Amino acid sequence: MRVEQRYRLIYKPLVWLGALLPLALLLGRGFGLAGGSLGADPAEEILRTCGKTALNLLLLTLAVTPLRRLLQAPQLLRLRRLLGLFAFFYAVLHLLAYAVLELQFDWPVLGEDIVKRPYITLGFVAVLLLAALAATSTQRAMRRLGRRWQRLHWAIYPAALLGVWHFWWQVKADIRQPALYAAILTALLGWRLWWKRRAALTSTSGSSTTPGRT
Ligand code: HEM
Repeated sequence: MRVEQRYRLIYKPLVWLGALLPLALLLGRGFGLAGGSLGADPAEEILRTCGKTALNLLLLTLAVTPLRRLLQAPQLLRLRRLLGLFAFFYAVLHLLAYAVLELQFDWPVLGEDIVKRPYITLGFVAVLLLAALAATSTQRAMRRLGRRWQRLHWAIYPAALLGVWHFWWQVKADIRQPALYAAILTALLGWRLWWKRRAALTSTSGSSTTPGRT
């Protein structure tokens, strides 16, 4: 099987399955399948699961580039867009869960929360950034924006940073989980800066082994 076919027939469907699994599990628990339930506060459980999944997928999207260099598998890049779009999908579900289940469609209160509660403001800006990335994730947008596309898509780092910060800010006592997310994000960003610097050094020294673009 050719690499192209392997990605189309195996890896992409696997990403779809893996990314939709948290939603399927939530629905299964919601409908009481296999004796499951959403616990004492279903709205909070849905809100938290969608938020956590959005962040997990966002970090996974950022891990694609280092992984493809480490494993020398350039084709992995084909999965990055899909992972990023699923991160956005869960971020939207998370926002909707808040607006619909917690606030019962009270849009003025949502607007007030976005303005007055700093951790919600951070989450909202992260959603806006992810929306801009999703809207420009097509081949057509890539061609149209040219070099600007690369710069715009760096916004995935601030989006992830805001997501982690948003998580950290609303944790009451135990900061272990957001701290772990922050450590992973720092490592991914650190790798990226190191790679960029290496690329700059090799290109100024005239080497032909210039590390490629993202
Ligand atoms: C306007 C946008 C957003 C709103 C209104 C919002 C709202 C909330 C609220 C109210 C909570 C607290 C849940 C609780 O303690 O019961 C929460 C938690 C969380 N949010 Fe958001 N959020 C937004 C955007 C985001 C984005 C973009 C991400 C990730 C990229 C995210 C990730 C998380 C995570 C990881 C948690 C913690 C989940 C947990 O405690 O297990 N949120 N969000």
